[in-house]
Amino acid sequence: MRKHIVAGNWKMNCTFSEADDLINAIMEQLEQKELPRDTQLIVCPPFPYLEMTTDYANDSYFMVGAQNVSDQEKGAYTGEVSAAMLESMEIDYCIVGHSERRAYYGETNATVAAKVNQLLQHGIKPIVCVGEVLEEREAGKQFEVVKKQVEQGLFHLSADQLREVVIAYEPVWAIGTGKTATPDQAQEIHAHIRSLLATKYGKEIANDISILYGGSCKPSNAKELFACPDIDGGLIGGASLKADDFMAIAMAF
Ligand code: PGA
Repeated sequence: MRKHIVAGNWKMNCTFSEADDLINAIMEQLEQKELPRDTQLIVCPPFPYLEMTTDYANDSYFMVGAQNVSDQEKGAYTGEVSAAMLESMEIDYCIVGHSERRAYYGETNATVAAKVNQLLQHGIKPIVCVGEVLEEREAGKQFEVVKKQVEQGLFHLSADQLREVVIAYEPVWAIGTGKTATPDQAQEIHAHIRSLLATKYGKEIANDISILYGGSCKPSNAKELFACPDIDGGLIGGASLKADDFMAIAMAF
C-alpha cells in the first residue's frame, strides 16, 4: 500500500546557521513525538545544505530530498547539479517540475521527463509536481492541464519505474498565497490523476503511488486534506520553515 508522505520544500530560504537550527528543531520534535504509522517525513533544503542534512538524517527519522536536478548526465553545464552527484551524497528524493521552475526557468513537460529519467537512473525517487494556474482553473481546464503534465512527464516510464515516483498536485494559485484548495477541489484532481495512472498502468499500480497535495497546506487545514481518500500527504512550502508547523502537519494523519 502507498505511503503517507510529508515533504518540506524550503525553497530558497535559510542561511547555513538558520538551516542548522531548523533541522535540529525538527529532530528534537522527532525525538519527542512518534510519527503516525506509515508516514515518511522528507526535508528538502537548498543544495548547499544537503550534506549537513543527510548527516543529521542518519541519526534521525527523516529522509532528504533535493529541490531540483539537471536534465543532463554530466559535463559543461555551469551551475547545474547532476543526479549522479545527488546519488553519491545518498539523497533519497528530488522535487521535479515545481511550478516555480516551470514559471521562472522555462521548464517544460519534456524537461520534467528528462529529469525524472536522470533521477531514476541514479536510484533517486522523483517528486513530480503538477498543477494548473489560476486562469486555467477559471477556464475549467484544470483536468486537461494536469492530464497533459502527467502524460508528458511520466507516461514514458515502465510500470516498475513509475512505482518509484511520487506525484504532488499543487494548484499554482494556492502556492504561497494562503489560498488553499478545498478538500473537495483537491480530492477531485487527485482522483483524476489516480484514474489516469490506472488507465495506463492498471489499478494496482495506481493505488500504490503516493499523491501529495501542495499549496498553503498548514496545521489548520492538513487534517481535512489528508482525510481525503486520494490525498496521501503534502508538499509543504512556507509551513515547513517552522519546525512546530511542519511537525503538526506530519502528525495530521
Ligand atoms: P506553500 O508552497 O506551502 O508555501 O504554498 C508549497 C510548494 O510550493 O511546494
